[in-house]
Amino acid sequence: TPRVLSLFTPSGSPTLGNLLGALLPSVRLLETADCVYGVSDLHALTSDHDPARLRERSLELAGLAIAAGIDPARCVLFLQSNVPAHAELAYLLESTAHYGEMQRMIQFKEKSARQSVVRLSLLTYPALMAADILLYQATDVPVGADQAQHVELTRDLATRFNRRYGPVFTMPRAVHPPAAARVMDLADPTAKMSKSVDSPGTIFLLDPIDVVRRKIMRAVTDSGTDVTYDTDAKPGVSNLLAILSACTGTPVADLTAGSYGALKKETADAVIALLEPLQRRYADLSADPAALEGILRTGAERAGERAAGTVTAAKKAMGLLAA
Ligand code: TYM
Repeated sequence: TPRVLSLFTPSGSPTLGNLLGALLPSVRLLETADCVYGVSDLHALTSDHDPARLRERSLELAGLAIAAGIDPARCVLFLQSNVPAHAELAYLLESTAHYGEMQRMIQFKEKSARQSVVRLSLLTYPALMAADILLYQATDVPVGADQAQHVELTRDLATRFNRRYGPVFTMPRAVHPPAAARVMDLADPTAKMSKSVDSPGTIFLLDPIDVVRRKIMRAVTDSGTDVTYDTDAKPGVSNLLAILSACTGTPVADLTAGSYGALKKETADAVIALLEPLQRRYADLSADPAALEGILRTGAERAGERAAGTVTAAKKAMGLLAA
């Protein structure tokens, strides 16, 4: 059976992009694979952050993952910082990675350009992400397109390590959803929908339903009147078609064309049909934070047990002596 790993960073409240690009695809894999999912809270330390908000967002993200269908009875669900093996293997991988290849990461270049003070952990972030994946010997990593380069680097690091020190790591691959690998901002369909950009075109999973409808009805469309999928010529319409396709499970090619107005209304209805029950389940879960904390404690224990063998093997292969 495939082994799956994916994490979600609590650096902001999660968006429709996170849901369609990675969360729902992760839920679908529960049927067929051995899955480890979690909240990458250590990754949220890579840019200036507020400790109190990080605590809130970590629990919110774990709750939303469960509300979206990440059933903790059918997978391991945990907080990254609760399993020390992540930081430990990250250091070993930093000692195989090259400064230049870290600097070349698109996300590093974009994020560091926007900040006056750049945390060193922003540069080394892909080594931690590689550790997340390689610790569990994951074969499949469900992610949006923006993480493809980091998974590619993970493969490079695993190959380099295995060649130099011996076969410790399984080679992972990224898996992307068919339509929604890159959900765009509704107000600027040439930019990725992002939880860290405050735009009227970002749909947050916890937005009130009337706000969701309004944001979609005000989505930027394109010149002309034809509803056709063409990301270059019609980025706005194509984004709505991709969202509608991902929400309904209908391939883009099978979606029947109407007017721009009809497309927006249909898309809004489909998104709301997903978010309404998700928000209800989330409200139920948040009524009992102790239960959620218990789930995460159990998850951390199970994740720690699975990760231990890999760290020990990697340390030994690199010449570190056992205690
Ligand atoms: P993060 O928290 O930015 O996003 C979580 C997941 O959502 C996907 N995603 C999108 N998909 C489609 N359209 C969008 N607009 C969109 N925005 C985000 C992301 O690709 C991701 O799959 N570094 C990762 C978290 C991470 C991780 C890992 C993922 C840490 N370790 C190991 C996989 C494996 C991140 O910050 O994702």
